[in-house]
Amino acid sequence: MNTTGNILELSLKAIPEQVVAMDHEFFPHPWSAQQWKDLNPEQHCLFASVLENTTIGFSLFSIVPGDDVAHLYKILLNPLYRRSGISHQFWSEIVLLLKSKGIHRVYLEVESGNAAAIGFYKKEGFKLLRTNPGYYSNGEDALIMESML
Ligand SMILES: CC(C)(COP(=O)(O)OP(=O)(O)OC[C@H]1O[C@@H](n2cnc3c(N)ncnc32)[C@H](O)[C@@H]1OP(=O)(O)O)[C@@H](O)C(=O)NCCC(=O)NCCS
Repeated sequence: MNTTGNILELSLKAIPEQVVAMDHEFFPHPWSAQQWKDLNPEQHCLFASVLENTTIGFSLFSIVPGDDVAHLYKILLNPLYRRSGISHQFWSEIVLLLKSKGIHRVYLEVESGNAAAIGFYKKEGFKLLRTNPGYYSNGEDALIMESML
């Protein structure tokens, strides 16, 4: 397990219940238990933001071995800690860990109505690449965004 400040890289062999529970409670499109189980240590990495021994957020990426691009699947902060600057600190630490893995570009999809996430991504330097109309099951468009690290 790697640590940098209050960020931890979690083992995918034993994903903490707290992470899955936060996904179910707070993520716009939570995953099934099977989706979490299907994560592969060769292709995915999971970071946790930890404050006083409590996991207050997590972020999940897909990374193709040998490639310098990561796909951000999920980033989530417990609502109690939003709008506090912690998400910026978490992202800055994630960027350092991704760079140490040779990643220089991150892309993601975000629901067009998710103003908090879009604001966060823009603040962290993500640019809009394109829109995928009706991408989500609720009919919402997806914004495809990317950032060079
Ligand atoms: C995405 C997330 C981690 C961002 O963390 P946060 O603490 O809420 O965001 P920040 O306070 O860093 O906000 C960054 C910017 O986004 C914008 N923003 C944040 N919340 C907003 C809201 N509710 N409405 C509109 N804009 C908002 C602001 O421009 C803000 O900049 P400012 O602080 O200078 O005003 C958090 O909102 C979250 O966990 N959301 C639920 C999970 C999720 O939707 N993840 C993304 C799925 S792709």
